[in-house]
Amino acid sequence: MNIIKAKTLNDFYSIAAWKIAAQIIQKPDSVIGLATGRTTGSIHKALAAIFDAHPFDTSRVTFFGMDEITGVDREYFGSCYYMLLHEVVLPLHVPMENYIMPPTRSDDFAREGENFIRAIRDRGPVDLQVLGIGENGHIGFNQPGTPFNSTVFLGRMEETLETRIRRESNTPDDVDLGGLTIGIQDAMHSRRILLVANGSNKTAIIKRAVEGPVTIDCPASILQLHPFCDVVVDPEAAADLTQR
Ligand code: F6R
Repeated sequence: MNIIKAKTLNDFYSIAAWKIAAQIIQKPDSVIGLATGRTTGSIHKALAAIFDAHPFDTSRVTFFGMDEITGVDREYFGSCYYMLLHEVVLPLHVPMENYIMPPTRSDDFAREGENFIRAIRDRGPVDLQVLGIGENGHIGFNQPGTPFNSTVFLGRMEETLETRIRRESNTPDDVDLGGLTIGIQDAMHSRRILLVANGSNKTAIIKRAVEGPVTIDCPASILQLHPFCDVVVDPEAAADLTQR
């Protein structure tokens, strides 16, 4: 792993955003997997600012979101589709046909998952997969205990997240909420990985992911075995790291 400890939180956002911009500048037809959340949301804002200040060719880049909430409308502001559309795809003027997401509603998510992963593979190998990390080590909806060889699947949601999404999206209790996610094996097949974490709530898990044993109890720990994984952390998330 290549660990990059940013000196400030702003540097953290900027370094991570420039890594995504550099990927597109170096290879304009890159296939890039994104993640949603507070961490990546701020990185995407920094990426949009870079694009405004230093426009680069985004007509051939393909973006996809690594996971999606199921059981809500796509138009719900918390769906991954909605967030990535407004944070990255529209600000960077990416053609809509180059934005790949699974649907939020379907009667057959096994089929949707297969279609999703096939649509990504049809574009070629994934050049860069951006990953956030949950406080329990999850990546996408790959929660602790998920086998390392998992491929796209409909995963479960943590209870607190489910409660919030149900409230925000006015989803009644009899409608199932879930998370369609690319698997750990799918993410590991990417050419490069960019793992990002900031804040004191990520200090402990970043130490486990980067310096702890590789174990399914901490899904992100498998990234230690990826040949090209950058880990960008702010001073708070990096606080307990002994490495470098
Ligand atoms: C969501 C995803 C999740 C988040 C993780 C961190 O698409 O992939 O793994 O990256 O839950 O979320 P924040 O940044 O909100 O702490």
